[in-house]
Amino acid sequence: MRKVNVTPKDLLTESILILKKHKIKDAKLNAELIMSHCMNGDRIYLYENYNKCLTKIEQNLFRSLIRRRIKKEPVQYIIGKTEFMGIQFKVNKNVLIPRPDTETLVEFAIKYSLENKIDSKYRILDYGTGSGNIIISIAKYSPNLQYYAIDISRGALLLAKENAKLNGVDKDIVFVQSNGFSSFNSNFRFDMIVSNPPYIPTSVILKLPEEIKSFEPLISLDGGEDGLKVIKDIVFNAYKHLNKNGVCLIEIGYDQSDIVEKMVREVAKYKDIKFLKDLAGIKRVVFFKKK
Ligand SMILES: C[S@@+](CC[C@H](N)C(=O)[O-])C[C@H]1O[C@@H](n2cnc3c(N)ncnc32)[C@H](O)[C@@H]1O
Repeated sequence: MRKVNVTPKDLLTESILILKKHKIKDAKLNAELIMSHCMNGDRIYLYENYNKCLTKIEQNLFRSLIRRRIKKEPVQYIIGKTEFMGIQFKVNKNVLIPRPDTETLVEFAIKYSLENKIDSKYRILDYGTGSGNIIISIAKYSPNLQYYAIDISRGALLLAKENAKLNGVDKDIVFVQSNGFSSFNSNFRFDMIVSNPPYIPTSVILKLPEEIKSFEPLISLDGGEDGLKVIKDIVFNAYKHLNKNGVCLIEIGYDQSDIVEKMVREVAKYKDIKFLKDLAGIKRVVFFKKK
């Protein structure tokens, strides 16, 4: 028979075992994030109320969310949020879950714009904004510039706008639904273009973990046959939309630096080509400047 007074401690003990049995990584952290969400608080609130009696609604909600996690749905989609650059972002099935790797690009973009902006007319474009994590972080940490964000996905843009509002920068960022640069004519130029584009080759997607391939939007992962479809669009066209000495920063796959470097050199419109490494020492971001 089920206990009448069920506490977070009881349910966590039970569910951590179940998650481990289903080979869910970070079972304890996942269970605690889900429990905090059900109790409408953070993990500190959870620890402070570890032995409180849960309502029937909280218990049922927790059990149903744990069942979703067992089916491999990422915990961030289950609780509807994640953290990036120390900022809270809402996430849903329309957007990629922001990855810590992308902070390499964002940290550089913030530092570079703070050091190189001449005035408040400095314009930054985020190509493929998803949840808005990149442009919102830049707007928060490098304020008083002009920020633009595009995405082909309407669902992503709706969420990015919500995240901008949540973080108090919605009045500063112009969001545009656009397939690549098609919405901008080349009289309208940027000083910086940043992007974390889809860069996984189509054939590799099926080999990705269940959490990714069955839940994250294909449009945010699939870089076409060679993984370079969107990267090529940016490299081949960025110079038409950049001011002289304007810079471009693109996140790339772990094995794409050689081919991307060749491509950037072949366009013959760029200088100062270099790569930024992620925490694992992998060339993760290509940087180049318009001549
Ligand atoms: C890898 S996700 C990156 C999302 C977010 N910027 C991040 O770092 O987590 C790539 C994004 O590019 C968008 N995208 C894909 N193709 C596009 C295109 N042709 N034009 C504009 N956006 C595109 C996708 O909808 C997706 O939101």
